Amino acid sequence: MSAIIQADGLEKVFRDFWRRPRVRAVKALTFEVHAGEVFGLLGPNGSGKSTTMKMLLGLLHPTAGRLTVLGAPPRDVRVKSRIGYMPEESSLYPFLTAEETLDFFARLFPLTAAERRRRVAELLEMAGLTHARHRLVGEFSKGMARRICLAQALINDPDLILLDEPTSGLDPVGCRQVKDCILALAARGKTIVLSSHLLADVEDLCGRIAILYNGVLCALGGVRDLLEEPEQMQIFLPALSEDRRLPILAWLRDQTGVEPRWDHPRRNLERFFLETVREARGRVPDQTGVRISEEIRLAPFLSGSRGET
Ligand SMILES: Nc1ncnc2c1ncn2[C@@H]1O[C@H](COP(=O)(O)OP(=O)(O)OP(=O)(O)O)[C@@H](O)[C@H]1O
Ligand SMILES: [Mg+2]
Repeated sequence: MSAIIQADGLEKVFRDFWRRPRVRAVKALTFEVHAGEVFGLLGPNGSGKSTTMKMLLGLLHPTAGRLTVLGAPPRDVRVKSRIGYMPEESSLYPFLTAEETLDFFARLFPLTAAERRRRVAELLEMAGLTHARHRLVGEFSKGMARRICLAQALINDPDLILLDEPTSGLDPVGCRQVKDCILALAARGKTIVLSSHLLADVEDLCGRIAILYNGVLCALGGVRDLLEEPEQMQIFLPALSEDRRLPILAWLRDQTGVEPRWDHPRRNLERFFLETVREARGRVPDQTGVRISEEIRLAPFLSGSRGET
């Protein structure tokens, strides 16, 4: 598999006005991200996630180390045109409407007027904001602003998508939709790097993760491998009555010499919440700022990956 991102010994030192080192935000960071992966950057506040993202984007220049993104240094303009970025703060121009906002970002790329209009309309639809396209984004709720930010990151049909805390500020329905959108983008072969503090989201989405602490890489690997407890195993069965269960447990105890534990699996809270909201939707009139179909449908213009470099 080809590496879309190759970081080798990456460092970032922020200096003060007199060029004295003030913060070593990222230290000796080495990792790779492969084509089509969803890669998670985790770590406590201030651990260097956003700084790493900004280096990947070419917005910050590494103090040391080597970094290749899509086969070139990240400052290369050809690379930039193939990257989409959703910053952690939804920094939007408050006096533009939703439609004008997306059109503004679309104009940064060489698109015809017709193509621009098509992409803007498709992304507004995908974000569930078509009805709010003439409203000023300055009036948007945090969740609506987040959706516009995600739409903005996709306007150039990027191959590599960098998402800094994409689900922050979204309600659980919005979170699920953004997660489904990320999975659908990955299924089309896009490469995604995201940071998040919501560990359950990361577990749902990411194939591999890196955990940073104070700028230092502390863990790197496949989520399944990192979380698996190889010394334990679980067996799934339909629920058994006590008279059928007891002899099975006794047999297991004889065979293994340990007392087997049993329990009913639980739905996770996200699934329970989504089912409750879905059920309420039929009864309670919908007045929220976002309207979106149950299933996320990617904007049709978003292509499969243009392949690897
Ligand atoms: N422009 C800057 N100038 C000086 N220091 C900075 C700058 N940007 C980030 N830092 C520092 O670098 C360190 C890492 O910050 P960064 O924003 O990368 O953390 P993070 O992991 O994204 O945190 P959070 O979870 O809060 O978003 C922090 O100590 C921060 O204060
Ligand atoms: Mg951050």
